[in-house]
Amino acid sequence: MIMLRDIRKVYTSASEEVVALKNISLHVKVGEFCVLKGASGSGKSTVLSLIAGLSKPSSGEVMVDGKQISKLPDTFSAHFRRRNIGFIFQKYHLIPTLSVKDNIIVPLIPENLPLAQIEQRVQNVMEKFSIAHKATSMVKYLSGGEQQRVAIARALVNHPKIILADEPTANLDATLSMELMTIFEMLKNEGVSIIVATHDPLFFDLACVDSIKEMKNGEIVS
Ligand SMILES: Nc1ncnc2c1ncn2[C@@H]1O[C@H](COP(=O)(O)OP(=O)(O)OP(=O)(O)O)[C@@H](O)[C@H]1O
Ligand SMILES: [Mg+2]
Repeated sequence: MIMLRDIRKVYTSASEEVVALKNISLHVKVGEFCVLKGASGSGKSTVLSLIAGLSKPSSGEVMVDGKQISKLPDTFSAHFRRRNIGFIFQKYHLIPTLSVKDNIIVPLIPENLPLAQIEQRVQNVMEKFSIAHKATSMVKYLSGGEQQRVAIARALVNHPKIILADEPTANLDATLSMELMTIFEMLKNEGVSIIVATHDPLFFDLACVDSIKEMKNGEIVS
């Protein structure tokens, strides 16, 4: 389903070169729940962005669902991502001046679904993440935990085959974190592949997690 082979990623700016990933290989199967852990700066978010096709490796290849995502032109990878991947960003990337509901609708816009179906799907995810009471509130007025729930709802509204979640529980309380685990477990059982980058120990002894990879200085060490 997801295959990274001999990945190296170097960020280059005018003044310096940062080697973010040195020699990463990773295989995540259909319905596998994989956790990436490791110190800040070890390369977790970089791995997720390569799988999503949001950035390209300096060398090596990234295969997702049989496609070499690292070689697709940007317009194709954007389309592929919208159809197949739900990305819960570390910094949410919500549109602050739109309402909760409108933020969640965004990934559905290009899909040409009947309006009633859109409404239904959005309502369902808002209820699942206890954010329906804020449906018409502008996102910029929400608390951190509320914004995190909107970001999760937006990632799931398209029924993706792959979920990439970057520190998804950073701003959730214990109850909401457990609810998210239950939802991840349910999705995994439906065959969704899940990769979570996290420091949260909650993920380290969950029965539904299949593999835990530890990253250190741009490498997977265990
Ligand atoms: N766009 C960029 N330009 C330059 N360097 C970058 C860029 N993005 C990430 N880096 C560097 O690459 C390394 C890996 O960063 P990354 O964000 O993947 O780490 P992380 O494990 O997700 O950290 P955290 O736990 O703090 O989120 C870091 O040294 C970071 O400074
Ligand atoms: Mg990160």
